[in-house]
Amino acid sequence: TNIRPDMHRVLPQRILNILTRAGETARSMGYQVYAVGGLVRDVLLKVENLDVDLVVEGKGIELAHKLAETIGGRVRAHEKFGTAEIVFQDGYWVDVVTARVEYYEYPAALPQVEQSSLKHDLYRRDFTINAMAVALNPERFGELVDYFNGREDLQIGAVRVLHNLSFIEDPTRILRAIRFEQRYDMAIEPQTLRLIKEAVREKVLARLSTERMWGELKSILEEADPEDMMDRMSELGVWDYLFPEITFWEVQPVISEMPQALMILRNWGWAEPAERWLPYFLAILHWTTQETAFEICQRYFLGRRQTDKVLDVIAHWRRALKSLSATGDVPLSELTKSVQTLPREAYPLFLTLLEDKNAIRRFRLVMESVHKNKPSVNGKDIRAMGFQPGPMYRRALDAVWRARLDGLVQTREEELEYARNYLIQHNAPKIEPKKPKGNN
Ligand code: CTP
Repeated sequence: TNIRPDMHRVLPQRILNILTRAGETARSMGYQVYAVGGLVRDVLLKVENLDVDLVVEGKGIELAHKLAETIGGRVRAHEKFGTAEIVFQDGYWVDVVTARVEYYEYPAALPQVEQSSLKHDLYRRDFTINAMAVALNPERFGELVDYFNGREDLQIGAVRVLHNLSFIEDPTRILRAIRFEQRYDMAIEPQTLRLIKEAVREKVLARLSTERMWGELKSILEEADPEDMMDRMSELGVWDYLFPEITFWEVQPVISEMPQALMILRNWGWAEPAERWLPYFLAILHWTTQETAFEICQRYFLGRRQTDKVLDVIAHWRRALKSLSATGDVPLSELTKSVQTLPREAYPLFLTLLEDKNAIRRFRLVMESVHKNKPSVNGKDIRAMGFQPGPMYRRALDAVWRARLDGLVQTREEELEYARNYLIQHNAPKIEPKKPKGNN
């Protein structure tokens, strides 16, 4: 079969151009080159995918250099592995690997007539749906190479491993199976499911480094709909390896309401944070203690800023909830003060926690006024006034914000004045004047 028409329909011009040039380059060198993995799978599903993974029957690094001469980009080569990346100015990159022939894999084989080295490369991969290739050489461009019936599995919706040791070799595949199953609304095929259960029982996940675990976990939290994946993780006993401190059923109700909350917030103009996994991560951790949350953040190597956000949420969500749910009139600045203690990334979680319409209405009001009344003073202005950078900056700026909401300041001059007074009143430290040189 040739899937060239699908490729033209699904892939953007930039990608098609790279694939075409790769094929021409391979021909000029006497090699064969293929696009493999997720891109092929998604072309067949008619879903866009921008990740180009090339497998070369020939010298991969040399092809990368030659290809970069025509399509641009810088080559980062890894001689030891025979792999390379072509990295473009805008951060986009293409992966190139060399398919090596490894005859020793089948020592007892009958007269094994030359196995294509591509087949060996594909056999090492996770699932049949990810183990297809498409030929790129001009005379074969678009030819589907499908040794393991990946296309059929895509059609019937089956996530299937290529061999029985797959999850032992690479336990992250347990999480990947869940991710692909739920993302494409497929089903992990019975034998593969048995292998997962067996691997979980044998505690293969305990042997996995937390870095690799976090990599896959983050991929799940960044999916469009991770909540079903988390249900599945719990069902298969995977959750207990990722978050042994957290009982899934305690956070599940909140997690199941996250998609709805995210949708509402987007309609209200809330901008998706750059760290797309963080809203879900906060939802998972909000119910635990500061100490436990800190341990989890450490375990997964979260940076300080992100860890602080997690701890802030745990410390403040209850009070924020209370002030938004209070009866009677509360000044906007009061409400804002309590919401401002929460990072933006916690808004989806927070919305799921708000129970009555009145509180939700108030939350929206606060969000909008915070957005509209953003003051013009910033950290730089405060720095120019000669105060030492530190936590007082944020407090002073929040105070200016509240003053604006209550109509106490209007112009930029008034804001600056208000910030200066606030900092002086709160004894914010000044920057030490530099000692004149040559004095000691
Ligand atoms: N792969 C694998 N085992 C892993 C990770 C990756 O076999 N543990 C292979 C699969 O063939 C996969 C390819 O490497 O298709 C690329 O991996 P990755 O980019 O992580 O996955 P994609 O399939 O591209 O999925 P996504 O759409 O989430 O990027």
